[in-house]
Amino acid sequence: MSNISILIGTMLGASEYVADHLTSILESEHQVTNYLTPDLNELDLNQPQLWIVCTSTHGAGDFPDSIAPFVEQLTQQKPDLSNIKFAVCALGDSSYDTFCQAGKDIDNLLSELNAQRETNINLIDVSLGELPEDSAEQWLLAWKDQLID
Ligand SMILES: Cc1cc2nc3c(=O)[nH]c(=O)nc-3n(C[C@H](O)[C@H](O)[C@H](O)COP(=O)(O)O)c2cc1C
Repeated sequence: MSNISILIGTMLGASEYVADHLTSILESEHQVTNYLTPDLNELDLNQPQLWIVCTSTHGAGDFPDSIAPFVEQLTQQKPDLSNIKFAVCALGDSSYDTFCQAGKDIDNLLSELNAQRETNINLIDVSLGELPEDSAEQWLLAWKDQLID
């Protein structure tokens, strides 16, 4: 059983639906907690854990309001995240030049802070009209069995 924190970046709720779907798949085997407004002070960086970041992109490549303060905390405080593994599931619209930019930025930021990438970022293009939860589920099923403890 792994300790998993799902960190949500959303404006309109789509990423929250994706997070809820991932939780429903994982919670029978793991300890899963969702954070709708992640706060560095609420996360125990000393305990080995997996962070799954589900975030959309808004503005012109910006983080959604629910996760922007958390990214600011990471950027300012530069914590050592060597106990953290992470995986990013990004929602965006490919008609924007800044397609999934927030997801790409937090993927890079977590790696710079010594967190270990569990799997490659999943880029979900909502302009395709498919359910984001379906893409997220396929992505998760491809790597979740490598979680051992
Ligand atoms: C005002 C606005 C700005 C957006 N800007 C971007 C963008 O820069 N890059 C991108 O990939 N998607 C962009 N999107 C698309 C959203 O990321 C997409 O609709 C996503 O599904 C929203 O998820 P959420 O409901 O979790 O916020 C934008 C959407 C809106 C409404």
